Amino acid sequence: MSKARIVQFAPAKKNSAPLKTLLTRALNMREGGASYAKPDRFARARFLQQKVYRSRAAFKLIDLEQRFALCQGRRRILDLGAAPGSWSQVAAETAPEAVVLAVDKKPIEPFAEPRIRLLRCDLEIADEAAALPARVTEALGGKAELVLCDVAPNTVGLARLDNTRFGVVVAEILPIVETVLEEGGDWIVKMRHSTEEAELWTRVRERFEKVQAVRSVASRPGANEIYWVASGFRGTT
Ligand SMILES: C[S@@+](CC[C@H](N)C(=O)[O-])C[C@H]1O[C@@H](n2cnc3c(N)ncnc32)[C@H](O)[C@@H]1O
Repeated sequence: MSKARIVQFAPAKKNSAPLKTLLTRALNMREGGASYAKPDRFARARFLQQKVYRSRAAFKLIDLEQRFALCQGRRRILDLGAAPGSWSQVAAETAPEAVVLAVDKKPIEPFAEPRIRLLRCDLEIADEAAALPARVTEALGGKAELVLCDVAPNTVGLARLDNTRFGVVVAEILPIVETVLEEGGDWIVKMRHSTEEAELWTRVRERFEKVQAVRSVASRPGANEIYWVASGFRGTT
C-alpha cells in the first residue's frame, strides 16, 4: 500500500502552525477545497489512524462497503474516476484476490500494490471511451464484476448547471458500463439530484435487477451527493 505524503505533516515543529491547522491545510489542499475549513471526523480519522488513504473519499466507500458488501470476494474491479486513488486502495484491501483497474482522465500516482493497475482515459472523449472495453479485459482478464464510479465532472459553481452536468456525464457513462460489466455484476455510481435524475433512474432500473439510492455517512453534510447502488446487471441483449 502506498504511503501518502500526508505523513510528513505529523510532527508539528515548535513555533510552527498548530498541528490541527497543518493537517487541515494538507487535507483540504489535496482535495482541492478551501485551505482552512475545519477537519471533520473522517478527515481526522484518516490522519489519526495513519491509514494513509489518498483521500477522505475512502470513508465513503468504506461506509458503503459495510452496508452493501460491494468489493469483498471480487476478483475484477473497475474504478472509474479513480484519482487520486483512495477507492482503489479500499477495494484492493477489501478484496485481496482482486485486480483493480483505476481509470481517470488525470494521471494517478502509481501504487506500490501491483494489483492496482492504472489507465488514463477521459470517459467523455468518444475515442478513448471506445477503447476502454479492450483495455479493461486486458488489465482485469475479463469483464469487471464490479464497477465503482465516483466521477465528478468539472463544475462552475452554479448548482443547477452543475447538477445537470452531473446527470449528463453519468448518462454518458452508463453505456460504457454496459460494455465493461459482466452479466450479474454491480455498479455503484455517484449522482446528484437534478432534473435529469428521474429519466436516468428509469434507464438504470431497466438494466439492473435492483437499484438503491443511498447517502454515505461520510459525505459532507448538506452535499448534494448520493450513490446509486445498482446490482444484478441484466447484460446486453
Ligand atoms: C471525487 S474524484 C474521485 C475520488 C476517488 N474516488 C478517490 O477515492 O480517490 C472524481 C474524479 O473524477 C474524475 N473525472 C471527472 N470527469 C472524468 C472523465 N470524463 N473521465 C475520467 N475521469 C473523470 C476526476 O478527474 C476526478 O479525479
